[in-house]
Amino acid sequence: MTDATLIDRIRDRAARISVIGQGYVGLPLAVEFARAGFSVNGLDTDLDRVTALNSGRSYSPDVESDDLAALLRAGRYEATADLSVLEASDVVIICVPTPLRKSKDPDISYVVAAAEAAAARFRPGQLVVLESTTYPGTTEELLLPMFQARGATIGKDLFVAFSPERIDPGNPTFKARDIPKVVGGVTPVCTRLAAALYRLIVPLVHEVSSPKIAELAKLYENVFRNVNIALANEFSLMCQRLGVSTKEVIDAAATKPFGFMPFYPGPGIGGHCIPVDPLYLAWTMRLRGYEARFIALGDEINRAMPDHVVELVADGLNDRRRAVNGARILTLGVAYKRGIGDIRESPALEILASLRKRGAEVAYVDPYVASIALDGAVLKAVELTDGELAAADCVLILTDHPEFDYRRIVETAAFVVDTRNATWGIPAPAGRILRF
Ligand SMILES: NC(=O)c1ccc[n+]([C@@H]2O[C@H](COP(=O)([O-])OP(=O)(O)OC[C@H]3O[C@@H](n4cnc5c(N)ncnc54)[C@H](O)[C@@H]3O)[C@@H](O)[C@H]2O)c1
Repeated sequence: MTDATLIDRIRDRAARISVIGQGYVGLPLAVEFARAGFSVNGLDTDLDRVTALNSGRSYSPDVESDDLAALLRAGRYEATADLSVLEASDVVIICVPTPLRKSKDPDISYVVAAAEAAAARFRPGQLVVLESTTYPGTTEELLLPMFQARGATIGKDLFVAFSPERIDPGNPTFKARDIPKVVGGVTPVCTRLAAALYRLIVPLVHEVSSPKIAELAKLYENVFRNVNIALANEFSLMCQRLGVSTKEVIDAAATKPFGFMPFYPGPGIGGHCIPVDPLYLAWTMRLRGYEARFIALGDEINRAMPDHVVELVADGLNDRRRAVNGARILTLGVAYKRGIGDIRESPALEILASLRKRGAEVAYVDPYVASIALDGAVLKAVELTDGELAAADCVLILTDHPEFDYRRIVETAAFVVDTRNATWGIPAPAGRILRF
C-alpha cells in the first residue's frame, strides 16, 4: 500500500486503527477516532481493563460509559489484549506509560515493548505514531531501527511520526477533541499522513519538521509548568515569611492582561507528567554533558513542598499545644489534582506517610479514591461527616475537589491547613485556617 492509498483510507474512515495503551490518554483518543467513524481496537495488556471496557465501563474521567457502550454496540470500538490485531491495522498509535526508574532515569520499557509488538507485526503501508511523552530522539533512535530491522523503508512503505498527547484528564473545558495536535513525521510524507489523520478529530494540527521538534515541544510545555509551579511554591514560602497571602498577591498580578500567566502554590506536584517529563529531558542533556539547571531547581523546590506541609501542620498543632504524635489528622483529597482519582506521584502519599511516621493518626476523604497503600498497609477512605471534621485535630486540604463543602469544613473543623486556597473568601476566626 502506498501513502496515496493510505491517505484515501484515512479520509474515507476505512483505515483500521489500533491504539496501544488504554489509559488516561489512549482511551479518550481511541474513542475520538471511533466517534469520527473509524474502526478502532484499544489494545491493553491489563485484562481487567479490557474486560471493563468491553462491558462498556469507562474508568476515564473524559469518556462517558454511555458513549463507550454506544461505540461498542456500533462495532466501532473493541478493547483487546490480542496483539494480532496489529497486523490488520493501517494505523498504530502508541500511548503507553513513560515513568521514571527509582534512579529518576527514564523507564522506556513500556514504549520498547509496545513498539516491538508493532514492529514484529509490521505490514507495508502502515502509519505508526508515538504519543507517549518521552526524551528527544526516541522516535528516530529507538522506534525506527525496530521497524527497519524488519525490512521497513521509512517514508516509502512505513510512515512514522511523533505527536505528543496534551490531554488534561478531568478538564471540563478542554477534551482531547478540543486540543490542537503537534505532529512531526520522520519524512514529509509521514508528517502529511499523520496530520491528515488527526485533522479528522481535532480543530488544529500544527506540523513541525521532525519528530524531535514534536518531542521537545511537549517537554518544553511541561518544563514550563513545572518551573512556574516551582516559582509559585517558592513565592509562597517567601509570602509566608512576610505574613501575606500568596493567592492575594498572585491574583493581583494576574489582572495584568499581557505577559503574565498565574500559577498557584500547592502541596507539591503529582501525576504522570509534570514531575516526570522534565527529568526525561534533564537525563538526555546530562548524557550530553549539560546540566539542565531550571529543571533541577524546579524539581528540588517542588519535591520539598510535602515536607513543608508537614512542618506547617506540626507548627499549627504546636500553637494549639498539640503534638503531631497522637493527633488525628483528616486529609481532604489524596488525588494529585481536583476532580480526578489519579494518585500517581501524588504528594498526598508522601505527606500522609510522613505524618503517620511522626505518630499521627491519619484518615482521608476522597470521593474518587476508595483506598490507598500506605507503608504496605491499606488505608480506606472515610466519609466526610461533621463527626469526622469535629474529631480531627487538623483538617488538611490537599486536593480541592469540587465535591467538598468548604464552608461546612471551615465552620466545623477546629483547625484547617489549606494547601490549595480552597477556603479562600470563607470567613473564619483568626488562626483557624492556615492558607498558602
Ligand atoms: N495522564 C496524562 O494526563 C497524560 C497527558 C499527556 C500525556 N501523557 C503521556 O501519555 C502516556 C500514557 O500515559 P497515561 O496517563 O495514559 O498512562 P496510563 O497508565 O493511564 O495508561 C497506560 C496503559 O497502557 C497499558 N500498557 C502498558 N504497556 C502496554 C503494552 N506493552 N501493550 C499494551 N498496553 C500497555 C497499561 O496497562 C495502561 O492501561 C505517557 O507517556 C504520559 O506521559 C499523559
